[in-house]
Amino acid sequence: MKNDVWESKYFDAYDKILLNSDIYLVVRDFHVNSMRNCHIVLDSGCGTGNVTLELLKKGHIVYAVDNSKKALDILRKKCAKHSKQLHIHNIDAKKLPFDDEMFDGVTSMFVVYYMDDPKAYLREHYRVLKYDGVLALTGRVSSENMEKVLKSYEGSLRKRNLLSKLQSEFSIFSEKFLSGVKKAVISGYTFEQMRDMLENIGFTNIEEYPNPYFGQCYSLIAYK
Ligand SMILES: C[S@@+](CC[C@H](N)C(=O)[O-])C[C@H]1O[C@@H](n2cnc3c(N)ncnc32)[C@H](O)[C@@H]1O
Repeated sequence: MKNDVWESKYFDAYDKILLNSDIYLVVRDFHVNSMRNCHIVLDSGCGTGNVTLELLKKGHIVYAVDNSKKALDILRKKCAKHSKQLHIHNIDAKKLPFDDEMFDGVTSMFVVYYMDDPKAYLREHYRVLKYDGVLALTGRVSSENMEKVLKSYEGSLRKRNLLSKLQSEFSIFSEKFLSGVKKAVISGYTFEQMRDMLENIGFTNIEEYPNPYFGQCYSLIAYK
């Protein structure tokens, strides 16, 4: 079932907070850099398009997929300059309207743990990936201690002298983060459990990469 948080005020504040957060930017850049050898990229659960925009700036063709209309409205405005390279799909990412082996790369950042059937979601992404294509995935182990993440976001705003200016956005973001977003996490896995799942689907050369979310999240690269 779709969680209402993705159509809520959460996304009004999302970019102001996260594009000023050190830990979020590290993960975003990992996803963008992982796609460096890919021409056609799927950004699955693209949200407001922070990975999409950076990929577009680098000349990639991007298919941006999300089931939140609100997030995609923000993405569309943000990426307007690059519309010729961009395809936007307001769909459930568990069933993709794309041919087999269509993409050189798939990026899925902070999305897989919102899936009630993460294996079905990942199998579908394996299907649309070319042979030798790359998957960059950031997942979550559990929704415990998300307050620590919030503290880090707050610290980044303070460091940039933005905390008082963005106080109301930070309140909205925090409230939604600890209520809706935290509750939306329904399938946490450790890196090892996720590696086993991906191997079972057929992915190979699965490697973990550093992730700054206090052991709550992991990032990995896998190949078809
Ligand atoms: C935490 S946000 C991450 C957005 C973006 N990847 C980023 O890192 O900034 C999670 C996103 O997953 C999307 N999402 C959740 N379930 C989905 C589904 N079944 N199909 C497509 N998108 C989904 C939400 O709408 C939301 O935009």
